Amino acid sequence: MRSQPFHRPVLVDQVLHYLIGRGEGAEEEAAGAPYLDGTVGGGGHAAAILARCPRCRVVGLDRDPEALAAARSRLADHADRVRLRRLSFAALHEDADLRVAGLAGALLDLGVSSWQLDRDARGFTFRQGALLDMRMDPDSALTAARFLREATRVELAASLRDGQAPRPAAIAARIVQRRTRRPPRTSDDLVAVLESVLARRSTHAEKARLFQALRIRVNDEIESLRAALPAIRDLLNPGATVVVIAYHSLEDRVVKRAFGDWSDPARRLPPRLPLPATALAPLGTTLTRKPVTPGAAEIAANPRARPARLRAWRRAA
Ligand SMILES: C[S@@+](CC[C@H](N)C(=O)[O-])C[C@H]1O[C@@H](n2cnc3c(N)ncnc32)[C@H](O)[C@@H]1O
Repeated sequence: MRSQPFHRPVLVDQVLHYLIGRGEGAEEEAAGAPYLDGTVGGGGHAAAILARCPRCRVVGLDRDPEALAAARSRLADHADRVRLRRLSFAALHEDADLRVAGLAGALLDLGVSSWQLDRDARGFTFRQGALLDMRMDPDSALTAARFLREATRVELAASLRDGQAPRPAAIAARIVQRRTRRPPRTSDDLVAVLESVLARRSTHAEKARLFQALRIRVNDEIESLRAALPAIRDLLNPGATVVVIAYHSLEDRVVKRAFGDWSDPARRLPPRLPLPATALAPLGTTLTRKPVTPGAAEIAANPRARPARLRAWRRAA
């Protein structure tokens, strides 16, 4: 038995508010298209959607078979209204049924679950002795240790910089210098590199940023998000909403920019381009001018909710 829940879902009321509203209309909508939970994790948000809307169906995706097992057990009471599939949300187009049915709404709750973070064997943590794995999909070929062993110095520095790690160029150079003798294998090896560059003990925040940068690269998180957003938009039925919860500024920026571009396709084009009016018409509306963030009570109950930033966009009816 697990003593801790697999994952505590964040901003649940706000997700339901944007995705379903008070439920009016959702029932008729639900008879046709399902809701997509592209990051089903432990099934917390999916369970809330199914409870709020008793006739709705949910298609839940995850790259991680452990997450799907947890979701299957959490959602067992609604098994007839749930379809779970091991698939990256970046590969939505591979799901033929979704292409036919369209979507009543979609949710992406990005990043990793508490279960993944807390299991040393999954290698996301900087707790001592954890192997540098960090794969959300355990069948993917690229572990964090392999990336640190095989990437060029330039690739390492770019990934660490993109992921907002501290001192990216110096850390990349130190990894390359050390790895001929001893490639980093464990969290301790990577923390030792960080601390040799800083020439002091590292803070929790510095370690977190370094490990997060590596995780983002190993799982190709930003490119997956960039690929998924337009695919989801095109599957939304008229009037349906996509909700995205991001946990760092890099992914939040991608979401903000995509929603802004869809709401105002002309905004990035040079003025007076001879384009038909239809090419410039808004595809929908951004529902969140500013990102929605958790309140003090939610953060006190679940400190991991702190960085969450929710944005929502509705396709034109
Ligand atoms: C923050 S958790 C989601 C938790 C979930 N909302 C809940 O209520 O339990 C993020 C989940 O997304 C999954 N994930 C991350 N990137 C993914 C991708 N590209 N495709 C599918 N799943 C992904 C992770 O494996 C993880 O289980």
